[in-house]
Amino acid sequence: MGTVKIGRLLVVGIGLIGGSLALALKAAGACREVIGVARRQRTCEQALELGVVDRAVTDLGAILPQLEPGDVVFIAVPTLAVEQVFVALREGLPAGVTVTDGASVKGNVVAAAEKVWGGVPEFLVPGHPIAGSEKSGVSAARDDLYAAHRIILTPLENTGSEHLRRIVEMWQATGAEVLSMPVREHDEVLAATSHLPHVIAYGLVDTLAHDAENENIFRYAAGGFRDFTRIASSDPVMWRDIMLANREAILRAIDLYSTNLASLRGAIAAGDGEHLMGIFTRAKAARDHFTKMLARRAYTENMQAQEVTYIAQPGGKVSGKLRVPGDKSMSHRSIMLGSLADGITEVEGFLEGEDALATLQAFRDMGVVIEGPVDGRVVIHGVGPRGLKAPPGPLYLGNSGTSMRLLAGLLAGQDFDVTLTGDESLSKRPMNRVAEPLRQMGAEIETGPEGRPPLLIKGGRKLRGIDYRLPMASAQVKSCVLLAGLYAEGETSTVEPAPTRDHTERMLAGFGYQVQRDGARATLRGGGGLTGTKIDVPADISSATFFMVAAAISPGSDVLLEHVGINPTRDGAIHILRLMGADIELLNPREVGGEPVADIRVRYAPLKGIRIPEEQVPLAIDEFPALFIAAACAEGETVLTGAEELRVKESDRIQAMADGLRILGIGAEPTADGIVIRGAGEGAVFGGGTVDSLGDHRIAMSFAVASLRASDTIRILHCANVATSFPNFAELAGKAGLRLQVV
Ligand code: S3P
Repeated sequence: MGTVKIGRLLVVGIGLIGGSLALALKAAGACREVIGVARRQRTCEQALELGVVDRAVTDLGAILPQLEPGDVVFIAVPTLAVEQVFVALREGLPAGVTVTDGASVKGNVVAAAEKVWGGVPEFLVPGHPIAGSEKSGVSAARDDLYAAHRIILTPLENTGSEHLRRIVEMWQATGAEVLSMPVREHDEVLAATSHLPHVIAYGLVDTLAHDAENENIFRYAAGGFRDFTRIASSDPVMWRDIMLANREAILRAIDLYSTNLASLRGAIAAGDGEHLMGIFTRAKAARDHFTKMLARRAYTENMQAQEVTYIAQPGGKVSGKLRVPGDKSMSHRSIMLGSLADGITEVEGFLEGEDALATLQAFRDMGVVIEGPVDGRVVIHGVGPRGLKAPPGPLYLGNSGTSMRLLAGLLAGQDFDVTLTGDESLSKRPMNRVAEPLRQMGAEIETGPEGRPPLLIKGGRKLRGIDYRLPMASAQVKSCVLLAGLYAEGETSTVEPAPTRDHTERMLAGFGYQVQRDGARATLRGGGGLTGTKIDVPADISSATFFMVAAAISPGSDVLLEHVGINPTRDGAIHILRLMGADIELLNPREVGGEPVADIRVRYAPLKGIRIPEEQVPLAIDEFPALFIAAACAEGETVLTGAEELRVKESDRIQAMADGLRILGIGAEPTADGIVIRGAGEGAVFGGGTVDSLGDHRIAMSFAVASLRASDTIRILHCANVATSFPNFAELAGKAGLRLQVV
């Protein structure tokens, strides 16, 4: 039994809604007594028989004088009948009693109250439980109808705080989540999300029921019809009332839908498959992920707002053939260039991780038809360089710095305004590095404080080419400037201080766009076109590195990583590990769609500490967290310098790794631009302990790999973002031989 939250509950109208509240409060021990009021004697008897109420009466006026302060009246009658109940309450409601209701339209309830009392009384707390069912009547009442559902309260300015608190606590006692919203907003939202679907469901069933063939239709109606029209068996009186009570908002929703339906009709009539694909793919993406899209949060299933912790048991070795997911950098670029191309681009091996999906969703939001991804296959219906449309709202890019920085360049030359936002980590990352060169090109860009996101990019600016010397080795900045260069007058060049990944340059060439490359300089001329193409995305060497390190540090290991991209601007981890003594073989080297690819075999060999050559830093920039784990297992000291960029990744990776390594008993000294790690050599070099990945995917995966050489369990906190780059990491790690549990 829970604690008593209210005195008596007087339920006016004992059906599904009122009956379920009564049962839930009784089950929770949250009220002293339930009294039911129904118009018909038979309903009263039924409610008593079912144990829904303790007492039941047909005369509301007669029971009111028995109520006392602290009691609650819950009005659960059809919307248009609420006013009559108010009239009865005006005559006989004792002071101190709280009144609330469950009607689906709040504007109408407020209007009724104003009519009856000349204003909304302070004891009235309008509310709406969003936990319907197509069933009706007291016999359908359940004590768990509201559990884990939402209750929207629409309190007004003069609603008494004591009354509001009572109603919040009452609903919470049913296990519901209580939200609050202004009346008007509630009615608009419900018109679109609930009332319109009911209109359509009733209308569809009625249309088909009138059809001469209706017997066949109902006999053979498959799941689609059943699922779609379930709500057409809801209570007609209730829904008639809702339609009339929320008329204006529902009419607006119907008009919006009619326009969309007419456009669908037009596309079908014209045989315009592409238009249909546009609507269907956008709708599918929205439906598949609608709760997360609503939360403006994440895209893949395992992301939700959930807390993910890795528990890695010590020991083990890795073996077998593994194919890690597609390259993140190339996946982003395939969507961007495919969207701007003329014609179709078919992508295989696309990374279905949060980051690349954020880019994909952004282009869908800008009107590009994109099929998939299904098993790594994506088909992009390019709209041409000038074909993007203004998105309906800000583009939310989650955790993905690449999406934000590359999009900034590409969008600076469009003729519409756009805002780019991201999650907590992305919102802390520096964006002046892209805003500054873009402004030099003539773009108008606003950033948040200290050059952080959000970015507001103004449309309709004329860009001119620049010759840009990058202040830091960054492929994102280089790519951003080159992508803006597509829209600039004349030539745009970038000169980088050290080689960085060149996927943008290579892929532009693959789309038939000329990019001149001369040492550190890349140049293109604006105003050209791209032609749709086929792209085979190899496995991501950054993801493969976790298993390269895993094999390199655990005796007896032997893994084959298949079809990995080994672009010379990305292969720093291979060089660094080999310098440390790792046994790495590149098998079957080949070129796939302009990118070098190989199978990588790694076998255990003892490692030694090294001074990491600075020229390798940009070529292994994302691999350092994993390489630090290798360094901890090496004999002797490893020194990294020239890597200050690591401090502005998804987390400050130098600090995050140093903290974690120390917790696990490894000597690690962070420096301004690197770290010194004292390798512990043979045996179990890591102790057990709890480390925080700070929501950084690569930190999380690195400490999971460390468990292979640990003496005790390693718990790794905040691992949900592994889904940004490597959604099936835990599964593959388990298959390879790690003892990793995800909770
Ligand atoms: C990337 C470039 C690198 C890298 C990031 C992906 C890219 O960032 O760390 O994961 O796809 O261009 P910087 O340009 O900031 O070095």
